[in-house]
Amino acid sequence: MSTPLSIGLIGQKFMGRAHSNAWNQAPRFFDLPRQPHLELVSALDQRELKTFAKRWGWSRFTGDWRDIAEDESIELVDIGTPNDLHAEQAIAMLEAGKHVACEKPLAGTLEDARAMRVVAKKRKRQKTFVWFNYRRCAAVALAQQLVAAGKIGVLQHVRASYLQDWGGPDVPLLWRFQEKHAGSGAHGDLNAHIVDMARFISGDEVKEVNGAVAKTFVKERKRLDGKGLGRSTVDDAVLFLTTFKSGAIGSFEASRVAHGNQNKNTIELNGTLGSLKFDFEDMNLLWFYDARDDPKTRGWRRIMCTAAEHHPYVANWWPDAHVLGYEHGFVNMAADICKVLGGKKPEVALPDFEDAYQTQRVLEAALLAAKERCAIPMSQVR
Ligand SMILES: NC(=O)c1ccc[n+]([C@@H]2O[C@H](COP(=O)([O-])OP(=O)(O)OC[C@H]3O[C@@H](n4cnc5c(N)ncnc54)[C@H](O)[C@@H]3O)[C@@H](O)[C@H]2O)c1
Repeated sequence: MSTPLSIGLIGQKFMGRAHSNAWNQAPRFFDLPRQPHLELVSALDQRELKTFAKRWGWSRFTGDWRDIAEDESIELVDIGTPNDLHAEQAIAMLEAGKHVACEKPLAGTLEDARAMRVVAKKRKRQKTFVWFNYRRCAAVALAQQLVAAGKIGVLQHVRASYLQDWGGPDVPLLWRFQEKHAGSGAHGDLNAHIVDMARFISGDEVKEVNGAVAKTFVKERKRLDGKGLGRSTVDDAVLFLTTFKSGAIGSFEASRVAHGNQNKNTIELNGTLGSLKFDFEDMNLLWFYDARDDPKTRGWRRIMCTAAEHHPYVANWWPDAHVLGYEHGFVNMAADICKVLGGKKPEVALPDFEDAYQTQRVLEAALLAAKERCAIPMSQVR
């Protein structure tokens, strides 16, 4: 029997929509031990909130997110606000006895992330989750299974880049361009995802950031209050190199100004026996190269990851090759959260605050490496 899971949400824009859709869709496509109930939503945008709540099926709305902490009926709080608010809101919710599902990056700063991790660790009966949604594309989850099964042998390279091109000079000084709100720019936004994907798929951990470069190309942007220009205080692009504990080497690149790449989240792994590659702009595909194949026919295999019986999550969706999209990753994650809160196993491992803190440490090491212009061993970043 499925028991209700009462949810509070903070934030009603991009992620607010993605998450509201996910909570609505999850029980329609998955058999879940807990039934999401969209109870209370909070956001700043008061004029839009009522319409938002109605459209997405939230029972109530409030302008003060603390009302969610005080509402005893709410079991799980979902946070989709700017990065500087994650720590204050997540810690308040944990202290109020709630489970928390927080957007990535875990926080804008390592200090905030550490505080969140400390409180989460103490609250043993409460669960934490971080919305690293790309893990939940069938192709990415399959890549993890293939690496774990030894299909590419011993890992030698990780090559990840996440390129976007929306961040040109005409874009105003949104919170995403302000260090006090975002922590960093393309780095925390995009490198966070590919560091998580690399750690998830490889099962490996970064031992050292060997070097990094951070660049802000657009130094001033139009202020949102119309009062002229304001300084952008975050990076537009960050590149860094890593060595993993296994001895594999990695490269990571994030940019918001890479024209022609709208959401090009790509990762390639090369091992002693073969390779795997994924490109989110073709998200239903995983490419596999087996170096042991007959040389006459050896080549990249294009795997359409939509076979219900063989590929993660797909049995819950459509017939073979009826392809999935961006929102399905969030629905898959909402379903996994409901499973875990109902005492069941998730289909794909769910990152908690501890896990996301490890990703945040790598991000911090890269920023330090760029600033100090030197290698940073992970042992120096705690
Ligand atoms: N997983 C992903 O792929 C993905 C994609 C985009 C954004 N994100 C992350 O999601 C988070 C939110 O990003 P977004 O793009 O949805 O931002 P957004 O600007 O579209 O929305 C932010 C929301 O937070 C609300 N908010 C701001 N301050 C608040 C406060 N004090 N109290 C209550 N609500 C408040 C705003 O009203 C707004 O509804 C960020 O951490 C971002 O990094 C993740």
